[in-house]
Amino acid sequence: MKIKKFQKELKQRKIDFCILISDDINFSYFFQEQIENSILVIPSKGKPCVFVGPLENIKTSFKKLKYKNPFKDLKNLCKGTIGINESKITVEQKKRFSKIGRTKDVSDMLVELRKIKTKEEVARIRKACYLTEKILKKIVKNFNFKYEKDIKNFIKIESIKNNCELSFEPIVASEKNARIPHYSGNKRIKKGFLLLDIGLKYKGYCSDISRTFYVGEPTKNDVELYKKVLSVQQESIRSLKSGLKTKSLEVNARKMFEDKEKYFIHSLGHGLGMDVHEAPSISLKSKDELKEGMVITIEPGLYHNQGIRIEDDILITKKSHKKLSRFPRELIIIPKL
Ligand code: GLY
Ligand code: MN
Ligand code: MN
Repeated sequence: MKIKKFQKELKQRKIDFCILISDDINFSYFFQEQIENSILVIPSKGKPCVFVGPLENIKTSFKKLKYKNPFKDLKNLCKGTIGINESKITVEQKKRFSKIGRTKDVSDMLVELRKIKTKEEVARIRKACYLTEKILKKIVKNFNFKYEKDIKNFIKIESIKNNCELSFEPIVASEKNARIPHYSGNKRIKKGFLLLDIGLKYKGYCSDISRTFYVGEPTKNDVELYKKVLSVQQESIRSLKSGLKTKSLEVNARKMFEDKEKYFIHSLGHGLGMDVHEAPSISLKSKDELKEGMVITIEPGLYHNQGIRIEDDILITKKSHKKLSRFPRELIIIPKL
């Protein structure tokens, strides 16, 4: 994705080549496929070149070279200043790269580039959302799960059936367990809120969707609490547009929670893409501003006697925003087993 733009920026920074290893997700960002034991060289002009290990068998429109001794081969190819992603290589690798030539860190360039999604990237995230919601629908439709892990396993099997990986280990938290935002465990599903947080990876791109159901009959207070979270989420989403500072988004959400703000113990959301958490950041400390093409999550929650979170994935458009996830948000009640 966006190789030409990246090359232009390399030139501006007087970097002749950028070298990315296949353990780095930015390799897959440009290469559009996940492979192993390979190195991508993007020159500031001309065709990128991929050095593949002797055992790999891949097809690519890039120049392809089989390497024998990768560092020797790189030294022969890359004459000049080289850009490396310091955030994704080991100290040892950095040392070896610096023997090839003068190095400059390009990690900030990669973060900036990936903040704004292309149409193809948005289409993949949308498809990941669609497939996640298909699973959520199935869970609700034939609810006969007894343990939290039964739901987790169902999510895993369904994601494999859809040729997807998971963006993260699914969170399935019943009753008091839902008070822990990143709960992992396997308790019996009880009467009370049931929080599901699911993310699939479709062609390298993540979804990240949370819904909170109620098992059994909720009290008036339960319904009120749920409505509070939903109204903060919907108001936050309504305000999304290009130019909005993410810090003010966070400030406003916290104001809307009023006296319950202290039970909102994580930030309102985050950028979403190849990584489930990526730029832009949404927090009180963030300096980011929303721009057309960004994809973010909006996921307010309350964690006190119970736990509730509602999370959707949203594309920022020129004048407003589009919801990429669409699963119903009103409180779904699951009759007690
Ligand atoms: N599933 C992790 C998150 O919502 O950020
Ligand atoms: Mn999230
Ligand atoms: Mn999530």
